[in-house]
Amino acid sequence: MNQPSHLALVPFVSVENMMKLVHHVGLETFLKELAAEVETDFKRWPIFDKAPRVPSHSDVGVIELMPTSDGELYGFKYVNGHPKNMKEGLQTVTGFGLLANVNTGYPVLFSEMTVLTALRTAATSAMATKHLARPNSKTLAMIGNGAQSEFQTIALKAVCGIDTVRLYDIDPAATAKCASNLAGRGITVIQCKSPEEAIEGADVITTATADKEMQTILTDNMVGNGVHINAIGGDCPGKTELHSDIVARASMFVEYPEQTRIEGELQQMPLDHPFTELWEVINGKATGRKDAAEITLFDGVGFAIEDFSALRYVHDKIKGTEFFKNLDMIADPDDPRDLFGMVMRAK
Ligand SMILES: NC(=O)c1ccc[n+]([C@@H]2O[C@H](COP(=O)([O-])OP(=O)(O)OC[C@H]3O[C@@H](n4cnc5c(N)ncnc54)[C@H](O)[C@@H]3O)[C@@H](O)[C@H]2O)c1
Repeated sequence: MNQPSHLALVPFVSVENMMKLVHHVGLETFLKELAAEVETDFKRWPIFDKAPRVPSHSDVGVIELMPTSDGELYGFKYVNGHPKNMKEGLQTVTGFGLLANVNTGYPVLFSEMTVLTALRTAATSAMATKHLARPNSKTLAMIGNGAQSEFQTIALKAVCGIDTVRLYDIDPAATAKCASNLAGRGITVIQCKSPEEAIEGADVITTATADKEMQTILTDNMVGNGVHINAIGGDCPGKTELHSDIVARASMFVEYPEQTRIEGELQQMPLDHPFTELWEVINGKATGRKDAAEITLFDGVGFAIEDFSALRYVHDKIKGTEFFKNLDMIADPDDPRDLFGMVMRAK
């Protein structure tokens, strides 16, 4: 049988190879470089194709497709969100994605994106924090100590210099797991028994809880002036984390307003509620934090461009390494019109 041509072969990064790549690069370096890659794409935000992700909702979760293109490369991610999964021994969020050449339409990378989503979400929160938090922010309150939490914490250490994390989860076992994973990583870890205790003295608060309903993890009276909040767990219709009063008191920064309006904390607010698009802060078109007393809120729901940045980063990083396998994914007959002949000759 004929061997597939090189055009038929698409590099595939498995979970095993993604983990090897992270160790090869170094976790903090990976997160810093990825945050820089996401930042580069936020700076050129207007050139991307943009649309709210395409969701398929069920009673227990959501499955979504997230496409975008910069005119040279096209990318999409398949991702789910099933808060009940964790109690069944499954991940709340899993994903995989693909990058393709716009000129030919041929894929150039196929990758796992469960680990990569945690990395890119953490890198994005860190990038937003770098632009919005008070300079010299040192203490993070991390509420929701599940799969995303260590990545979020380490990205904030690597990119923003956070040196202390105060952890809280309704499940103390999650907090103990997170504390043990973060031990020895150059960050002081404090396990807390309530969200109030966790946010005491915090410069930055990240909420990454999972529940398929409108929660109020933070209420207005809990949050002091000057704090920066990354609210990343509210990312679906009817799934929010903050009381509307604290959302109203904060200055809100969003990724893609059309998607955030449906999925983010913004869904709770009146249509004329003010917000700033984060990309405008990053490329200098808009002001971020105005003073030390302001509460800034990154209403992060996760946008396709962040996954595109992550896929492109991995595509560059695997060059010259062993951290991928070639998959025979594209039928590529010698005569492009003889697909049938190619199939018949394979008998
Ligand atoms: N914005 C984004 O780009 C993005 C990306 C990935 C995941 N997410 C979302 O982030 C959230 C966390 O994801 P994960 O993979 O870590 O989920 P996970 O299920 O592994 O962890 C969630 C944790 O939240 C805790 N929790 C639930 N309700 C809580 C409450 N009221 N107070 C404190 N803790 C509470 C749970 O006990 C659990 O430990 C999910 O909602 C997910 O959909 C968002």
